[in-house]
Amino acid sequence: MDITTARVIVTGGASGLGEATVRHFAGQGAQVTIFDLEADRGQAIAAELGDAHFQQVDVTDETATGAAVAAAAKAMGGITGVVNCAGIATGAKTLGREGPHPLTSFRKTIDINLIGAFNVARLAAAEMAHNSPNADGERGVIINTASVAAFDGQKGQAAYAASKAGIVGLSLPMARDLGALGIRTCAIAPGIFRTPMLEGLGQEIMDGLAKDVIFPRRLGQPDEFARLAAFILSCAYLNGETIRLDGALRMPA
Ligand SMILES: NC(=O)c1ccc[n+]([C@@H]2O[C@H](COP(=O)([O-])OP(=O)(O)OC[C@H]3O[C@@H](n4cnc5c(N)ncnc54)[C@H](O)[C@@H]3O)[C@@H](O)[C@H]2O)c1
Repeated sequence: MDITTARVIVTGGASGLGEATVRHFAGQGAQVTIFDLEADRGQAIAAELGDAHFQQVDVTDETATGAAVAAAAKAMGGITGVVNCAGIATGAKTLGREGPHPLTSFRKTIDINLIGAFNVARLAAAEMAHNSPNADGERGVIINTASVAAFDGQKGQAAYAASKAGIVGLSLPMARDLGALGIRTCAIAPGIFRTPMLEGLGQEIMDGLAKDVIFPRRLGQPDEFARLAAFILSCAYLNGETIRLDGALRMPA
């Protein structure tokens, strides 16, 4: 898939990894539509980039997301890519000092990180199915964001790790479901990236997290995520796979 002519929805595109993806893709000539709850930031990024659009939408809302996908397809003249970055980081132990893990926060984490990504993917796939295939038979690419927590979830990450393991689990069956239509599905499992989500933890905790990264011993830069997403978009033989992007980090318990 040629990034210069791609028409891509980026969820969570108003911050962090999503914002970096929006900027990188737009810089390569792609048309981009940001889906995010944060209207001020999303609109400002779209306005700054010029040929970019914004939809204020909660990706867990079935009706609103359907309308936003239709609006994005209209604004861009179709959809050839989705990069799902909308997500939240939650932390609580299965049984903590204050009692059992609240079920509401467990459900919310799964709802946004897993069901929200699936919701956008399934609706965008229905739009992609209308595309004329390129020379390789491709009609679209879906890139979901997992996490290394899907494999090495730490204490307090039962909900978050479960949501991200769900994303890893989706890659192959979704690729199999959509392969006949020429739509590929991959996931990126980032290690620890310097984004507002991580910066909220404070410098001391970020430094502690970076200590376990093998090389380069630092937090990932959001642009490194964006460049991998662009590579997945462009490389037709990548399908059904989750790629770790983590400086060889294996998170301790
Ligand atoms: N930063 C990291 O180190 C890291 C590591 C592994 C995985 N991830 C994953 O990468 C993704 C992006 O993380 P980030 O660090 O850029 O976070 P971030 O907080 O900077 O950005 C997330 C964006 O998602 C949006 N969002 C949240 N819930 C939404 C909803 N229901 N509907 C629409 N938009 C919603 C937020 O408004 C925000 O703009 C997340 O899925 C996160 O779990 C991040």
